[in-house]
Amino acid sequence: MFKDRLLAGKRILVTGGGTGLGKEIAERYLALGAEVWIAGRRGPMLEATAGDLMARHGGSVRTHAVDIRDAQAVDAMIERIWTEAGPLTGLVNNAAGNFISPTKDLTPNGFNAIANIVFHGTFYVTHAVGRRWIAGGHKGSVISILVTWVWTGSPYVVPSAMSKAGLHVMTKSLAVEWGRYGIRLNAIAPGPFPTEGAAKRLVPGGSFEDNAATIPMRRVGEMPELQNLATFLMADGCDWLTGETIAIDGGGYLANGASFTALDNVSDNEWEGMRAMIKAQNDMDRAGRTA
Ligand code: HXC
Repeated sequence: MFKDRLLAGKRILVTGGGTGLGKEIAERYLALGAEVWIAGRRGPMLEATAGDLMARHGGSVRTHAVDIRDAQAVDAMIERIWTEAGPLTGLVNNAAGNFISPTKDLTPNGFNAIANIVFHGTFYVTHAVGRRWIAGGHKGSVISILVTWVWTGSPYVVPSAMSKAGLHVMTKSLAVEWGRYGIRLNAIAPGPFPTEGAAKRLVPGGSFEDNAATIPMRRVGEMPELQNLATFLMADGCDWLTGETIAIDGGGYLANGASFTALDNVSDNEWEGMRAMIKAQNDMDRAGRTA
């Protein structure tokens, strides 16, 4: 779909780039010639991903272990990139956190666990990069990975829906405020693209494919489709495209509205079981964290 080395000369940071959608996007950018940085909380996981991607495609993938909930640590990361490598040309806000839960059962801490990553953390990264672009007179492109709930809302994932909706508004607001600096902000709202981290927390005990029949195109997303859209939005040639959130979901949200409405039928016992499965995944991830 794209010419070789389309992204040569670009330096792009992908948050949450060690696994899942972030890793897939980082891989395509690398394969198209970009210099890639990946950030996340699990240092060894980032190193393994960087090694894996460079073995397959050559080029340069550098890593930085960071928890984006920590604004100072975020600023230190961006300063390191500017000092050691030079200004970024692009940023992909992909890092996120989420789990399904009846909202009545959330504690303030549970709400904050998600909102501090998605809403606050994404702003910290965007701000740390954007203000350096403005100060240095550099153009730049930001892509945030959102979700179709920014339009529909969604039950049982309320902290995520609220936070992602905030980023949808950030995208529109900063597209206007920063347009004159040549900085553009767009967002992708993916429907179900199966990844382990999301499946274990959003359909514990099941899989995204379980609902494929309800999607107009009768299937879940395929990673190359997401990679293609992320590449199109990052490449030169659509510089006038800014402030947009583009859904890529096989028509799912237009047909079905919000996700997770079927969870209305889940019993308290079933919720207990799912909570235990989500906790096991969270504990496993936490054990690998270095930031
Ligand atoms: C209720 C829960 C809970 C659950 C955690 N909590 N899991 N509450 N039900 N299932 C509560 C805890 O009880 C605690 O509150 C608080 O949340 C913090 O929990 P921790 O496990 O200590 O949090 P932490 O280690 O900081 O982990 C953050 C996380 C975790 C968000 C909870 O899931 C994470 O790190 N996720 C990153 C990866 C991820 O989520 N990927 C999926 C993204 S999918 P108390 O009060 O007890 O202290 C996505 C959209 C996909 O974003 C769209 C698909 C269509």
